[in-house]
Formats: sequence, C-alpha cells, structure tokens
Amino acid sequence: MKILLIGAAGDIGRAAYQKLSQRHDVVTVGRTGGDFQVDISNIQEVRELYGRVGHVDAVVSCAGDATFAPLSDLTQDSFMLGLSQKVMGQINLVIAGLDILPSGGSFTLTSGVLDRDPIKLGVNAATANGALAGFVKSAAIEMPRGIRVNVVSPGLLEISEPKYGQWFHGHKPVSSIDVGRAYAKSVEGALTGQVIIVA
Ligand SMILES: NC(=O)c1ccc[n+]([C@@H]2O[C@H](COP(=O)([O-])OP(=O)(O)OC[C@H]3O[C@@H](n4cnc5c(N)ncnc54)[C@H](OP(=O)(O)O)[C@@H]3O)[C@@H](O)[C@H]2O)c1
Repeated sequence: MKILLIGAAGDIGRAAYQKLSQRHDVVTVGRTGGDFQVDISNIQEVRELYGRVGHVDAVVSCAGDATFAPLSDLTQDSFMLGLSQKVMGQINLVIAGLDILPSGGSFTLTSGVLDRDPIKLGVNAATANGALAGFVKSAAIEMPRGIRVNVVSPGLLEISEPKYGQWFHGHKPVSSIDVGRAYAKSVEGALTGQVIIVA
C-alpha cells in the first residue's frame, strides 16, 4: 500500500511510521519536514497536497495541536487552536481526500486519552478528542466505495513522558510499539467508525 502519513516526524508519527513502513510505502508529511509539507488546517493546502502526491491507498494523520492551559485562562482564540488544528485539520484530510482514495481505502486520525481520562489543563485537547470520536462514528456510515475511517486514541507515550509526564499524574504510559500496532490495525484491518484505544 502507499500510505500518506501526516505528522510523521512527531512522537506519535514516528511510532506509526516504524510499524507501517515495515510492509508499506510510506510518504511522510509535516508542516516543515517530510517528503511533502502542508498545514492541514488549510483545506486548500490539503487539496494541493493530494494533487502533488498522486495515488494513495490510505491516509494516516498523527498531527493536531491543541492548547494546554487552565480552563479559567482559555479564550475563544486559544480554544480555537484545538478546533481548527486537531479537529478541522484532520477532518479536512477526510473531506478533501474522499474523492482521492480508491475503493477500500482508509483514513486513520489521532485523538488521545484526555476525553476518557482527563487531566488539568487538558480541556481543549479533550474536547477535540471527543469531537473526533463523534466524527469517525458518523462519517463511517456515509463513506463511499467501502472506504473506512477510524481514530487512534493513545495514552501518553513513553517517549513523550519527559515532555508531558509532569501533567499526567498516575497515567500509565504506552509503548511506541503498541501505538504502531493500533495504526496497523486501522490501516490493514477491517474496522471502521471505531475509536482504537491504546491504554
Ligand atoms: N505524544 C503523546 O504522548 C500523545 C498521546 C496521545 C495523543 N497524542 C496526540 O497525537 C498528536 C501528535 O502528537 P505528538 O506528541 O506526536 O506531536 P509532535 O511530536 O509535536 O508532532 C506533531 C507532528 O505533526 C506535524 N503537524 C502539526 N501540526 C500540523 C499541521 N497543521 N499540518 C501539518 N502537520 C502538522 C508536525 O510537523 P512539524 O514538526 O513539521 O511542525 C509534527 O511532525 C497530537 O494531536 C497529540 O495530542 C499525543
């Protein structure tokens, strides 16, 4: 399969790349790095990306910023970051990619643990995660030509602990290998409309 992997250079993206590149041709994408560059929050840029890349069998997104801040400090603007980047950025990949993917293709998005097991400062990311769960459940029943759509919801990655561990009191970190398996399950398996939890 030819797989388009957005956010390939990130902690989650590298876990997905490690697993998927063992059996597939993975084209890497980032905002600044990778084989191709795009800002997924801009749907015109996403359409141009698909035009430049050509045929792909599966799209995997491991990208999407959100604001980490106390609820009382959040503004409409800072809250919009999670909605425009993590939610709409990933939904843009689906909307713009629907006519691009072949029959039986798949989209795999990324959410995270925070709507299931919240932490302080995490409300923007948690809201985005919940929105993505609703999106894939609903979008799956309207996908044409047997195209599938899932979202992987990982816990805090072991390799991300030095950056974020101080806020995730009592959370059990997950391995990059297990996270990679979840992306393989979504891309190579038969699930659709699912939140694939890695806990
Ligand atoms: N790390 C964890 O433990 C963990 C756990 C659960 C869920 N998540 C979620 O997984 C996602 C990725 O997290 P991460 O820790 O891997 O982040 P990261 O290390 O900061 O990597 C993010 C990657 O996505 C790319 N990216 C970001 N915004 C983009 C945009 N608008 N358009 C195109 N590419 C974009 C970045 O490209 P550039 O480097 O070129 O900017 C980078 O390659 C986030 O939504 C995060 O909430 C992370």
